[in-house]
Amino acid sequence: MGREKSMLKRTRIAQVLSSGEIGSRFTVMGWVRTRRDSKAGFSFIELNDGSCLSGLQIIADAELSNYHSEVVKLQTGCSIRAAGILAASPGKGQKVELKADEIAVFGWADPETYPLQKKRHSFEFLRTIAHLRPRTNTFGAVARVRNAMAWAIHNFFQKRGFIYLHTPIISGSDCEGAGEMFKVTAFDLGHIPQRAGEVDFSKDFFAGPANLTVSGQLEAEIYALSMGDVYTFGPTFRAENSNTSRHLAEFWMVEPEMAFCDLEGNVALAIEFLKEIFSHILQNCREDMRFFERFIDDSVIKTLEALVSQDFEILSYTEAVKILIKADQKFEFPVEWGIDLQSEHERYLCEKVFKRPVVLTDYPKAIKAFYMKLNEDQKTVRAMDVLVPRVGEIVGGSQREDDHDRLYARIQEMGLNPADYWWYLELRKFGSVPHSGFGLGFERLIQFVTGLANIRDVIPFPRTPGNLTF
Ligand code: 4AD
Ligand code: MG
Repeated sequence: MGREKSMLKRTRIAQVLSSGEIGSRFTVMGWVRTRRDSKAGFSFIELNDGSCLSGLQIIADAELSNYHSEVVKLQTGCSIRAAGILAASPGKGQKVELKADEIAVFGWADPETYPLQKKRHSFEFLRTIAHLRPRTNTFGAVARVRNAMAWAIHNFFQKRGFIYLHTPIISGSDCEGAGEMFKVTAFDLGHIPQRAGEVDFSKDFFAGPANLTVSGQLEAEIYALSMGDVYTFGPTFRAENSNTSRHLAEFWMVEPEMAFCDLEGNVALAIEFLKEIFSHILQNCREDMRFFERFIDDSVIKTLEALVSQDFEILSYTEAVKILIKADQKFEFPVEWGIDLQSEHERYLCEKVFKRPVVLTDYPKAIKAFYMKLNEDQKTVRAMDVLVPRVGEIVGGSQREDDHDRLYARIQEMGLNPADYWWYLELRKFGSVPHSGFGLGFERLIQFVTGLANIRDVIPFPRTPGNLTF
């Protein structure tokens, strides 16, 4: 049967509402949020199909053949098809309503056991029902904003001629050199082959140790040094045992990598990129953003609007440390030159000192990865982090070391084995060029945009220490 004739042909509620076509006939399908029965002998059904925050009000008249047998039994969570004529609504709260001449039930939801009954549930509780939470207003709005942001990210790079690159998820190298990797193996864990008291990886699937990638950067550099400007956008994995509101074991990262680009160009691109994403969300996700403003954080829209027009503050790590040492606030982690900044320090700079996003550059080499370009002072590297109020670091990047011998020395200095990075080193032997890139934590950006306090609530299925529901 063709789709034209199918009983499953429908119009999305977002389209019905924006069409404003009073008098037209529509078929909609979705999940009942509420049903109210009027004394006058008909019912109001609020239907949501995920296409927008608003539901469609459906008027179900007692004349419907299944009114008494089915319609008055509809409860929150039931799925239905409703067809009828769109009319102007006399009631408060909605402009239009659908006067149904037909309602069919797809699936019932027993109110005794369907968990989404009360209007408001705690986010902690909703995390335990990740299979149902996208049916709530908050998680529906997060899913739509997340989708719009992903689109805006691709659009930003595609417009500028960047090539979208798929870097591997299974990796043989440690990009960050921090060793916080999940291992990938096909060994029977009860019988791991050993040789001279150590695991014999030569017998494993890849004939050597393999991990889930912590970043696509090293592979992106390969393509930048042949295609010019590239970007990756994919899942990344970190086995760090960080049980915070900003860390996931599986998160999505956007990583542009540009040939013929120095730190200044890198910083400029990151700022332009963030501003464009923010203005896209302000323009295209108004209804969802108003929802976040009303129920999650009343400053989200104002903050984004300010960012689009404001300059970001750009200063060096060394200058930032001077400010932090003089701060009138007591920090849990005391500040001195050389420390890795904590989120309390990052937030102090953004929220108290500059009241805007801050880009810090030129960090001490000891606290940054081996691949960052060494400055002439031999102490700092051409690194940059973008810090935002509330969340702290959302972007980390750098100009890359493009001198073979200096990179070799840095790899050794950091206790890594140059042999593991032979191909990465070769890129510095054959046609090396200045190049730079950064990584944006997609979930941290969504946290910032939506105002949601916990990173577990901006990814559909969060993976954190001790948590893997399904
Ligand atoms: O600062 P990071 O570790 O940088 C890199 O991985 C570089 N290779 C990026 C590059 O230059 N191409 O991570 C980049 C960003 C961080 O700023 C943060 O926003 C996010 O990734 N991030 C996390 N997000 C959620 N959970 C975690 N555990 C994260 N670790 C990093
Ligand atoms: Mg970082």
